[in-house]
Amino acid sequence: MRNEDSTVQATFNGIARRYDLMNRLMTLGSHKRWCQEVAQCATSTGGGKFLDLATGTGVIARAVRKQSPESAIIGADFSEAMLEMARHLEGNGDIDWQFADAHELPFDDGEFDAVTHGYLLRNVSGLDEVLAEQYRVLKPGGVVAALESSPPSGVLAPFIRLGMRVVIPTLGTVIGRDRDAYKYLVDSTLGFLNPEALRLRFERAGFTDIQVKPRFLGTNMIWSARKPVQR
Ligand SMILES: C[S@@+](CC[C@H](N)C(=O)[O-])C[C@H]1O[C@@H](n2cnc3c(N)ncnc32)[C@H](O)[C@@H]1O
Repeated sequence: MRNEDSTVQATFNGIARRYDLMNRLMTLGSHKRWCQEVAQCATSTGGGKFLDLATGTGVIARAVRKQSPESAIIGADFSEAMLEMARHLEGNGDIDWQFADAHELPFDDGEFDAVTHGYLLRNVSGLDEVLAEQYRVLKPGGVVAALESSPPSGVLAPFIRLGMRVVIPTLGTVIGRDRDAYKYLVDSTLGFLNPEALRLRFERAGFTDIQVKPRFLGTNMIWSARKPVQR
């Protein structure tokens, strides 16, 4: 694993215990609803096998379970502390929680009907490798659906940036008890690709039917894309 990824892994291990509460506060309670929307994109494939990457405490995996009670679901993450939280949360019982680095997935080619993730891409050192791995493990015709943060744009952008730089590290200090970790979350969001650039990376990985829906003044995006049936 590269050094940048080990640092990210240590950051998420450190904040796992208070992560869900912080997420609810930072998104004013919207995170769960966005995760349900991501799950909806995945389950609308009608498939029976799903992978939720960067699963954290499993919010998206749990939404997939509710929408598709009979399916097989793997929730994967490279933070053992996050996986430990996921294993013990109510409603997470029959999901298969596994350690996996998104750069090198321990799954077969064409294994999944859909791959989901929330706030993964801005954290990885090798974006193209990570998208290539998702493409590989999807069945032809399968779907990737994701929630991702996005740098603000438009006339309100300077105000939103300022708000994020002040509010999130403050919450991180008072509630999350780790200012640096939440400063990292802000920096990685503000420094991430804009939606046009990320769309090109999905295209370059071979995906088609790429759709993106802005949420929360464009600071969050719900992405979906398809692996074509034939290339
Ligand atoms: C911001 S949390 C999001 C958790 C969850 N998806 C959600 O929306 O609540 C990001 C997660 O990505 C995981 N992660 C970051 N880089 C990863 C990688 N290379 N492989 C696997 N998981 C990774 C972290 O451990 C962390 O649990």
